[in-house]
Amino acid sequence: MEIKPDFVEAYDPQEGARKAKALFEETFATSPIGVWRAPGRVNVIGEHTDYNGGKALPLALPHAVYVALRPREDDQVKIISEDFPELNCLKLSDLAENYPSSGPGAFIGGVILGLAEVLKTRSLPQKAEQLAQKIPGLEVAVASSVPLSAGLSSSAALECAIAVGIDELASLGLSESPEGRKLLVEAGKLAENRYVGAPTGGLDQSASMLCEKDQVLELDCASWNTRLHPFDLPARGLSLLVIDTRTSHNLADGQYGLRRAACEKAAEFLGVKELGELVPTTISERDNLTNLDAPDYPPLWVREQLDKLSDASLRPRVCHVLTEIARCQRLCELLETGADIAKWRDLLDASHESLRRDYEVSCEELDLAVQTARNMGAYGARMTGGGFGGCAITLVGADQVEATAKAVVQTFKDSGFNQPRFLSVSPGEAAAKVE
Ligand code: GLA
Repeated sequence: MEIKPDFVEAYDPQEGARKAKALFEETFATSPIGVWRAPGRVNVIGEHTDYNGGKALPLALPHAVYVALRPREDDQVKIISEDFPELNCLKLSDLAENYPSSGPGAFIGGVILGLAEVLKTRSLPQKAEQLAQKIPGLEVAVASSVPLSAGLSSSAALECAIAVGIDELASLGLSESPEGRKLLVEAGKLAENRYVGAPTGGLDQSASMLCEKDQVLELDCASWNTRLHPFDLPARGLSLLVIDTRTSHNLADGQYGLRRAACEKAAEFLGVKELGELVPTTISERDNLTNLDAPDYPPLWVREQLDKLSDASLRPRVCHVLTEIARCQRLCELLETGADIAKWRDLLDASHESLRRDYEVSCEELDLAVQTARNMGAYGARMTGGGFGGCAITLVGADQVEATAKAVVQTFKDSGFNQPRFLSVSPGEAAAKVE
């Protein structure tokens, strides 16, 4: 039988807005004030570096979360979603006292409470007051083309769509400047870390809020400075294929926290606040960052740090973090100089090997997806996001998208894995109002 890979299409913005609006009207028997959208993301390189003050290189997907919103006069948050069709309600005053909390309300309420706190700590009490006055509570209807639980940051996209929405409803004007957007990123991060209780590092919200069409975002997670690089794959005859393995191994949450704790312990031991401080600002061209089996891997400046660690279990973790930050830095330099695509391939492939062997966050499905793409002649393939399931990305020749997807479907079938699905993407736009 002929294999037909399943491709997840992004909603056209008008279509996404129409769906969110229709769901809102059906649920709340009134019209929303407006509809906002925020994209999911994939990370090209720089994985598990954000909470180490390192670098990452994400792009926004064309796939996005759409929220239709109307403020309430009481302090309730009510959410309905295409994906969870039961109305979810929560009181902001309850969430303010009892967190972390589960359910979609914690993401949305968390952004409202998180933004109020960010504004206060940034000496913007007037804006915090304005937010409290204009948004005592909120009604929300959600429609999304970002696959859920696939490691494509659907939750950060929800937070960012809410953040740009309440920013505009309360006339705060933060979305209009990069500095203001960074405050909205912080609000989303606080929602996730404190109110939802996930110790994530800020990459996802930054991508959703700060990326631009046809660009990748160089994100420095120590200073939170950003820089955009053109990422015109069609001009190079390439396409970016996202492979959703449709597996999520449920040890993921605890394992993410354990990796983060190991990095913090190592940083303390090595006498720095974050491991990223140990990476030189210029990486020598002679440093081997790509051949993990060669005797000169990792480079000397990494080995010197590893030798200081008496707890041997921390060494591979630190080795991944330091080399990954350096790989990200090198890819940013390549984007700058327009250098040859074979070098991109080596960096992407090595990133995956390091995540698999040293950081131990890959899984059989991700390894098989990556290996199959490589066998099909990909220009680099690696897992993306937190790991333990979710998605891999691969750069393939523009005419190889379908063939690569078919090969992955076949190898997954032969191995008895879930049927994968695919997103064929180019970099999309950051969070904004639709109508
Ligand atoms: C998840 C987290 C991010 C980041 C990545 C790994 O997506 O939400 O903060 O740590 O994993 O790079």
